[in-house]
Amino acid sequence: MAHRSECPSKMNVTNTKFRPGPEFRFLSSRATHLTLLLALALVGATVATARFRQPNEEYRARRAKLTSQLDGPLVVFGYSGNEDPSEFAVFFQEKNFYYLTGDDEPGGAVLLIPDPPAGKSLTGPREILYLPPRNPAIEHWEGPRMGPDDPGIAEKTGFAKVEVFANLRGKLEDLARIYPTFYTLLPGQQEEGYPHLRNWSDWLKRTVPGANIRDAGPMIAAMRQVKSPSELALMQKAIDASIDAHLDAMKRMRPGLFEYQVAARMKEIHEFEGCSRESYAPIVGTGFNSTVLHYSTLDAQIKDGDIVVLDVGGEYGGYAADITRTLPANGKFTPRQREIYEIVLAAQNAALAEVKPGATIYGGAINLNAIARQYISTHGKDLHGQPLGQYFIHGLSHHLGLDVHDPGSTSRPLEPGMVITIEPGIYIPEENLGVRIEDDVLVTNDGHEQLTARLPRGVDEIEKIMAAGAQEKPQNAQIGPD
Ligand code: GLY
Ligand code: MN
Ligand code: MN
Repeated sequence: MAHRSECPSKMNVTNTKFRPGPEFRFLSSRATHLTLLLALALVGATVATARFRQPNEEYRARRAKLTSQLDGPLVVFGYSGNEDPSEFAVFFQEKNFYYLTGDDEPGGAVLLIPDPPAGKSLTGPREILYLPPRNPAIEHWEGPRMGPDDPGIAEKTGFAKVEVFANLRGKLEDLARIYPTFYTLLPGQQEEGYPHLRNWSDWLKRTVPGANIRDAGPMIAAMRQVKSPSELALMQKAIDASIDAHLDAMKRMRPGLFEYQVAARMKEIHEFEGCSRESYAPIVGTGFNSTVLHYSTLDAQIKDGDIVVLDVGGEYGGYAADITRTLPANGKFTPRQREIYEIVLAAQNAALAEVKPGATIYGGAINLNAIARQYISTHGKDLHGQPLGQYFIHGLSHHLGLDVHDPGSTSRPLEPGMVITIEPGIYIPEENLGVRIEDDVLVTNDGHEQLTARLPRGVDEIEKIMAAGAQEKPQNAQIGPD
């Protein structure tokens, strides 16, 4: 959905949780450290480039483009790895930091320095990556990491200058004598969870007191809205894995399964195809649960005659897929389910037809949200003879990318390279009837390309796939009660 407050997903910020315990500390003699550091330095020098990483040139070009828009230094911080203390936490990088650096290790910061103001001069590097010093104790548990003094670190990271994190403060203090303005990511009105942006922007304010601190979020978000070919390749991987999962779910769907079983198979397919995690908490909602936007409990058994909303997508190389299909549990839509489904589908098609450069998600002459809403408001009725617009309770679309709800203005006219969802829905709790259809769409020079086109949306096609799946009984019988 377009607005975080309305969307059905939950954003997971999960990170490393290394805490040396007493059984480990006895190893921490100075000699052990030195030996380990030497060994890890050798390993670190040969660590393969992360399998998803884009070429250094791409990150460098992003930094150059951003720097050209600045009138003061910018600093953006990676996650520390301490954001989530839970046992199952896995480190995933802060997305803006990753977008600018490709660094997926904890504890870094990036500093970009534009030309100095008139009458001031500045020598030295204009972009610096700050990394924590290597720590053999942590590396022994978690594997080799990059360090600021590693041989070849400049080539590996694509930064001409890589420094130890502790030097950042002094550098900023020096820059404050030249620049009146600094940029960082400021917390929005609704920052949730671990206060990463709050903590670091407060730190910056303390470090350069008296400076104007401006929010770089909108500038970076605007850049992130337009995807490069290599970003699109990663997005297509996420989408293809997610389509495969949806096709599998279509074939396996039947009364008697539990929602969690459907989600389990879909998650397995994502991960088997290389996804690192889900893009958001999977939604598989049967019957009444199909009308619950944020449904994530997944503990209900699917019943004959139910409709099931599946909003499930994987994340590949940091990039999200976001796909919803709505299926009849027994393979055949009832006449009422079919009626509502076809209204949602037609609303989606009406909006899809207008996805092109210059259209907008909200506002403007070609307003995609208004197009879908108009269709839903003028077709069909509820049980009381009232129009259905009141049951379309979320936005039509959002940008998609490193975040499932990628940041940036949804009233900005669409441009080639943007990827958005188109996801109308009708949710009628009184009828235990929710329908959402969600596809991912790339804006092209002369229109759009539906990146999820391989996954059927039509009633007849869906029923056909489900019927074929039901024939594959032995395979389907591997999960769930008969
Ligand atoms: N799955 C999140 C959304 O559709 O926005
Ligand atoms: Mn969505
Ligand atoms: Mn979705």
